[in-house]
Amino acid sequence: MDILKTKSEMHEWSKTRKKESKTICFVPTMGYLHQGHVSLLEKGRPLCDTLVLSIFVNPAQFGPNEDLDSYPSNIENDLALARKAGVTAVFLPRKDDIYPENFQTEIKLQSLPDHLCGKSRPIHFDGVAIVVTKLFNIILPDIAVFGQKDYQQLQIIRQLMLDLDLDIEIVAGEIIREKDGLAMSSRNAYLSESQRVSARSLFKSLNLARELIARGETRPGAIIRQMASFIQGFPETALDYISFCDPQTLEDVDSIKHPVLLAIAVKIGKTRLIDNALIDPSQ
Ligand code: PAJ
Repeated sequence: MDILKTKSEMHEWSKTRKKESKTICFVPTMGYLHQGHVSLLEKGRPLCDTLVLSIFVNPAQFGPNEDLDSYPSNIENDLALARKAGVTAVFLPRKDDIYPENFQTEIKLQSLPDHLCGKSRPIHFDGVAIVVTKLFNIILPDIAVFGQKDYQQLQIIRQLMLDLDLDIEIVAGEIIREKDGLAMSSRNAYLSESQRVSARSLFKSLNLARELIARGETRPGAIIRQMASFIQGFPETALDYISFCDPQTLEDVDSIKHPVLLAIAVKIGKTRLIDNALIDPSQ
């Protein structure tokens, strides 16, 4: 497994693979890998001749009061997991290599970031869009794999491909969960034992919604009220949003008649967790 620490080394590596007519699959991450990340690597591995993993805690996607400085890291463990998953090359850039002094460009999408997480994290998706575009230009992938756990991010990347005429196939990986249903996240490491119990309320509330829909409930408001009071029954929970929305546009729906995305964000103590489910009311 090659480890590339500068963007010029990484770009040369990728150009060499291209000259050899090898295809490149790419999985971008911020590290502190868990089984969710590994599942994306395993999904990507058979799709191309080579598999590139990037580990970069991207400052541009963190707001001023967010957890950039405390974001967990364990490079040794990440490299061991990467090796086991068959990664060909790991890109580990420094911040000033990605964002040199006098860096000026922004990428701003018009409406997808106005919903869900974008409301409480106003610069987040601009930061994701710029870093992913740069990583794509450095790594030159044929395919890139993203998790549905960050559904809004996935939609924004798909839109970016269309808007910027980028010829990279975007593949989605399903949400990987702990045994009790909690969606795996690097941020779960912040949770105390009691907060960990409260964190289960996210997944349980998604199941509650599924049950209500299966019994014929079609009013988002009625379901959201029950989910909110269920979650608020757990200590240290503060609801950010619960939304039933169109899976493409992310705009709120006023009735659950077609497949919808149910997305949720909750703060458990200081830790903000997200989860979601695609629900087809006809099934
Ligand atoms: P990060 O949070 O490290 O996630 C990297 C990838 O892993 C994302 O595509 C995310 O959706 C996926 N992922 C996280 N938890 C998952 C789970 N439980 N099941 C399946 N997939 C999961 O997302 C980012 O980093 C950054 O925004 C990034 C795209 C790297 C840009 O900086």
